[in-house]
Amino acid sequence: MSKPRVYITREIPSVGLELIKKYFEVEVWPEYWAPPREILLEKVKNIDGLVSLLTDKIDAELLDKAKNLKIISQYAVGYDNIDLSYATKKGVYVTNTPGVLTDSTADLTFALILAITRRIVEADKFVRDGSWERSRTGWHPLMLLGMELKGKTLGIIGMGRIGRAVAQRALGFEMNILYYDVNKLPPEEEKRLNAQYASLEELLEKSDVVSIHTDLNKSTYHLINEERLKRMKKTAYIINVARGPIIDTQALVKALKEGWIAGAGLDVFESEPLPSNHELTKLNNVVIVPHIGSATHEARNGMAMKVATNLIEFLNGRVPPDLVNK
Ligand code: DGY
Repeated sequence: MSKPRVYITREIPSVGLELIKKYFEVEVWPEYWAPPREILLEKVKNIDGLVSLLTDKIDAELLDKAKNLKIISQYAVGYDNIDLSYATKKGVYVTNTPGVLTDSTADLTFALILAITRRIVEADKFVRDGSWERSRTGWHPLMLLGMELKGKTLGIIGMGRIGRAVAQRALGFEMNILYYDVNKLPPEEEKRLNAQYASLEELLEKSDVVSIHTDLNKSTYHLINEERLKRMKKTAYIINVARGPIIDTQALVKALKEGWIAGAGLDVFESEPLPSNHELTKLNNVVIVPHIGSATHEARNGMAMKVATNLIEFLNGRVPPDLVNK
């Protein structure tokens, strides 16, 4: 009997790929960049399973062409690239990869917090471009001063797995934690994390660092807009490792240029890849990295294993563990 067919839109770590190959007939898009739309629309015509990335648009047009498709195993925790309600209507299972990238993303959040508050990128440039040498002093009381974290308030927007892992790290830095989420944490968890619930407005007004960890949906699109950026302290920083469209980029550029806030650490953007001549790249008070929240060997291997497990469990007639359209 022939094996069911799976199309994978990019090479994934071999631990997962080899496992998938044991059970499925697999085709992998061979390039570094995403398969062009026409190719993807052609490839999905004859497959049972699809391994997609956040860069693949899985909409009604694609789902209508994928007549045999039974499962989409997304290689990410976020799945805002997939028309979930249409997939559900068509009876297509959708799974994701929660849990395994929590720590990597929380680590990157802290890397960005420290990089922007301690001006690490600016300081590195200062050495490399000769500014330090030209200053003719090895040390100066006023050189590259930043902000200390101890005793400062971290405002976490979205207190899911990643938000809580960020709070856990903030405890080590002796920060105070405010959080905003549609769901309040149980009192024991608030106590464990020393986190206090706040309205979004209160969080923005009181925090020294605001960090975004919510998913992208209709209610979080441009959640951080001009009005909300103006509510933040002039000395505060904003960090986004969630999804670019949660912040209105034009409003953020204005806020950074006009000093409504002190700086930003960004891993995600409204349009990716971010063009190298984008206005954000011209600003010193921003640290920019290219959507690498989950970019560790541990997380990406874990994601590959989850993608494989979800497909295999489905094939064996069981409910995939990370089904999102239950
Ligand atoms: C996700 O999983 O949603 C990240 O953005 C990529 O790992």
